[in-house]
Amino acid sequence: MIRLDLSKAKPFIAGEEFKKARKKAIAALRQVMDGSGKGSEWLGWRRILARPNDAELEQIDTLAKDLRDKIDVFIVCGIGGSYLGAKALIEALTSSFKSEDGPEVFFTGHNMNGAYLKELLAYLEKSKPDGTPKTVAVNVISKSGTTLETALSFRILRKWLHNRFPEEASERIICTTGATGGALNALAEEYGYQCFVIPDDVGGRFSVLTPVGLLPAAVAGIDIRTLFYEAVAIYEELDQAAEQLLDYAAVRYILGQKGKTVDLITSFEGSFRGLGRWLQQLLGESEGKEGKGIFPVTSTYSTDLHSIGQFVQQGRQNIMETFIVVEKETETMQVENTQKNVDGLDYLEGMSFHSINKKALDGTREAHFKGGVPCISIILEEKNAQHIGEFMYFYQLFTAVYCYMIGVNPFNQPGVEAYKKEMYKLLGKK
Ligand code: PA5
Repeated sequence: MIRLDLSKAKPFIAGEEFKKARKKAIAALRQVMDGSGKGSEWLGWRRILARPNDAELEQIDTLAKDLRDKIDVFIVCGIGGSYLGAKALIEALTSSFKSEDGPEVFFTGHNMNGAYLKELLAYLEKSKPDGTPKTVAVNVISKSGTTLETALSFRILRKWLHNRFPEEASERIICTTGATGGALNALAEEYGYQCFVIPDDVGGRFSVLTPVGLLPAAVAGIDIRTLFYEAVAIYEELDQAAEQLLDYAAVRYILGQKGKTVDLITSFEGSFRGLGRWLQQLLGESEGKEGKGIFPVTSTYSTDLHSIGQFVQQGRQNIMETFIVVEKETETMQVENTQKNVDGLDYLEGMSFHSINKKALDGTREAHFKGGVPCISIILEEKNAQHIGEFMYFYQLFTAVYCYMIGVNPFNQPGVEAYKKEMYKLLGKK
């Protein structure tokens, strides 16, 4: 089970404050569990773990195996909750470089960048080194089926696929969408594309453990059963005892009250960049409403210590930090001996990169804490599907609890409509 270290945050909080906030956290958790809070019609992210759909997991696994055997490139077309979870999983759990095993996975539909799409099509057109054409499949993901960024990219990709593989296009397009309505259901019906359903009661940013996240992850070679069933296990555990989660929610709540308006989510694990962005959306789109919430922003250390580290240490003191930490070493890169020590690094000889990185983490936490930044650490024993599955459900529950503590509906996003309204007005949409 993931662990929390609040020792570098609690000194910023008085005992009485903590006790009061903890009571609030308990009441908020109860609201999630008994479905009495705002937006309770969106608690499907708990229901899917309470009653796992094994037939669907099987269907995803079978299709993914087939695709892994047959195709060279798998394209995930989606935005927001319809791509961030899959991207987080793939970045965290697969190699940063193309391995021989399985297809390359690319993302599109998350912006309206024509140049990006053009480059993608040019890449798809280019034959493989042996001269044969690339085989391609597309998974378009949109619960509403109306999101402009995704719909535009899909329109281009669809045309390309139908031209390139006229006989097989319908087998190479997979739609993940709401149960009914929307353009994707209409297109699937017309052209016979295979469909996966995003349940009505699961919102986008809470959908990573549905086909939205699971199909792309499985195609990338991730063990989705372990991922999913570890989420089930922690769901059951947290429903029995959620002490750590409640402490954490109380601490974050008080820090928010005390003017910590920015939550800098960071990790010394380079491959957790996507996980940070997934969490940023989960928290941000859930808590940021009615003039409330802590603004979540994500970074990767030690890389970003060389860009924003100065600000964190000595800038405006409105930042709290959340470190996502991996305890166990899995890579084996070590500092080797050189004959002359010209670069002066021999004092690190024999140390692994993991242990050097760990010292950088400990040093950073200490320095930032001393500089007035409360630091919360979420500790995963190891970087694998099991612990990422736990992490994802833990944060879904945490987000709901925290939102109820500050009195907002975690599951809607009315503010996102504002930009769409202005944009569509300018685009002349009827
Ligand atoms: O969390 C959410 O609900 C949003 O981020 C959506 O996932 C995002 O806007 C994409 O929506 P859709 O899946 O309808 O295209």
